[in-house]
Amino acid sequence: MSDDIQQGDDPQGDTKQHMHVDSYERKWVMISIGFLVFFVIMITIAGLALGIQVPTDEGRVNPNTLEDALPWSEPGLREIVPGEEYEVYIVARRFSFDPREITVPKGAHVTFWATSADVQHGFALEGTNVNMMVIPGQVSKLAAQFDEPGEYDFICHEYCGLGHAVMYGTLTVES
Ligand code: CUA
Repeated sequence: MSDDIQQGDDPQGDTKQHMHVDSYERKWVMISIGFLVFFVIMITIAGLALGIQVPTDEGRVNPNTLEDALPWSEPGLREIVPGEEYEVYIVARRFSFDPREITVPKGAHVTFWATSADVQHGFALEGTNVNMMVIPGQVSKLAAQFDEPGEYDFICHEYCGLGHAVMYGTLTVES
């Protein structure tokens, strides 16, 4: 009698068998969902709270006519506020950066603008968070502050051909 009642009270007994997910598999599904939620939370915190953003598209430029107009016709350092605020316009081409040497005073806040005259390059400046793709037709922009005097090498970190390994330059921070 009690058996009959229990079976009758469990209408899902039948369904359960059809919907059965192995407990091992269920655990992995849960762990995967947990990872996804964790990553979304971390990306949200990094992007909104810590302000870590990927370099954004700062505009378009025709790579074939870079020499025709400012600022790309005259790459190099611009002093915005002496001793404080600087801008550098960098043209990357196989296999060099123009300019190759940059000198700023200690404490300078430098905004880097870069584009390519030919193929895809990279621009990574040691000891800073300046690390961006340099893409023909597109302008990349990142900024950094230099409080420690010294020499900081920047390199092309995107394979661009046989001379890729010699594509580098130096930023000097004077005291
Ligand atoms: Cu330019 Cu590698």
